[in-house]
Amino acid sequence: MKALVLEELKQPLQLQERPDPQPGPGEVVVRLEAAALNRRDYWITQGLYPGTTTPTVPGSDGAGVVSATGEGVDAGLQGAKVLVNPSKGWGDDPQAQGGDFEVLGMPADGTFATHLLTTPEQLLERPAHLSAQEAAALPIAALTAWRALFTQGKLQAGQRVLITGIGGGVALFCAQFAIAAGAEVYVTSSSEEKISRVVEMGASGGINYQDENWAREFRARHGQVHLIVDGAGGKDYAKLLDLARTAGRIVNYGSTAGAPERIDLFRLFWKQLRIIGSTMGTAEELEAMLEFISSHQLHPVIDSTYALRDGNRALDCMKNHQQFGKLVLDCSES
Ligand SMILES: NC(=O)c1ccc[n+]([C@@H]2O[C@H](COP(=O)([O-])OP(=O)(O)OC[C@H]3O[C@@H](n4cnc5c(N)ncnc54)[C@H](OP(=O)(O)O)[C@@H]3O)[C@@H](O)[C@H]2O)c1
Repeated sequence: MKALVLEELKQPLQLQERPDPQPGPGEVVVRLEAAALNRRDYWITQGLYPGTTTPTVPGSDGAGVVSATGEGVDAGLQGAKVLVNPSKGWGDDPQAQGGDFEVLGMPADGTFATHLLTTPEQLLERPAHLSAQEAAALPIAALTAWRALFTQGKLQAGQRVLITGIGGGVALFCAQFAIAAGAEVYVTSSSEEKISRVVEMGASGGINYQDENWAREFRARHGQVHLIVDGAGGKDYAKLLDLARTAGRIVNYGSTAGAPERIDLFRLFWKQLRIIGSTMGTAEELEAMLEFISSHQLHPVIDSTYALRDGNRALDCMKNHQQFGKLVLDCSES
């Protein structure tokens, strides 16, 4: 097999030849057709993800075909087209993951490879209308979007939702899901082109967050919203409290732009706002999300696909925030 290995922090990934994995009892091997990138992978390469250790094979998202089964596993699984659930050990409480929770792709070797050794419990059937590349684009970003929007954000049809940083993978899934669920969707972005593209997909409008007065302008144009889903944080975070209507919800799943400067607690309590954190999701949420994708025949937006050996170019693209949609690696090519 081949794998993209991070041998040293802040160094390019190396394409290495490794012995083919052999499934032990209760294990399976997936011949990966595609993997997808998340910001997490970039941060791991930079040593910015908590607990990063090397050497490691990054990659949490993957789709492929079961190519071998170990003792005690139904051999009929061989040939099944699957996608990989990157969450392991969530635990019994749907409200929050337990202490054993782990994400595939550091510490365990991930999907930037031609093969993955895993267990059948981590595999799901691929939505039939999706290609392997599209299925690989789903797990982390679409699951995070699903939980943030519906479980934590309690979005209902007809409500108004603001999604920040639409160039992000999670943000774009939030927009697709919210549009499909009948919400009125607004976005922020540093790119007019990305705003136009999401408006073409059915969003009601968007605003460029690089304009210092963007929040004031947004409120004048569109008013306040029931729900804000944010993965950026940063100096503009405090402005979100102005854009949420009374009793509104602000759900955070990331902090790409760093720590917020100052939160106006008066606004928080006087407006009866709820600020809610969200991370990935449960196996049940993953299944519900895949069902929603199938019933609405949604296709993830893929920005571009790179050969596995060009994984460093894909990471550069992510580093520079150039993409609109997911960056995918073709793992079948080696
Ligand atoms: N909690 C979880 O389970 C979970 C899961 C996945 C991701 N995350 C986190 O969520 C964040 C996004 O990850 P991702 O992989 O979806 O996306 P990503 O590819 O990292 O996209 C980042 C996007 O953030 C936007 N952005 C950057 N600075 C911004 C700012 N000051 N204000 C508003 N938007 C800004 C940009 O959007 P424009 O290009 O439109 O300007 C950029 O394209 C990361 O922090 C990641 O670690 C968390």
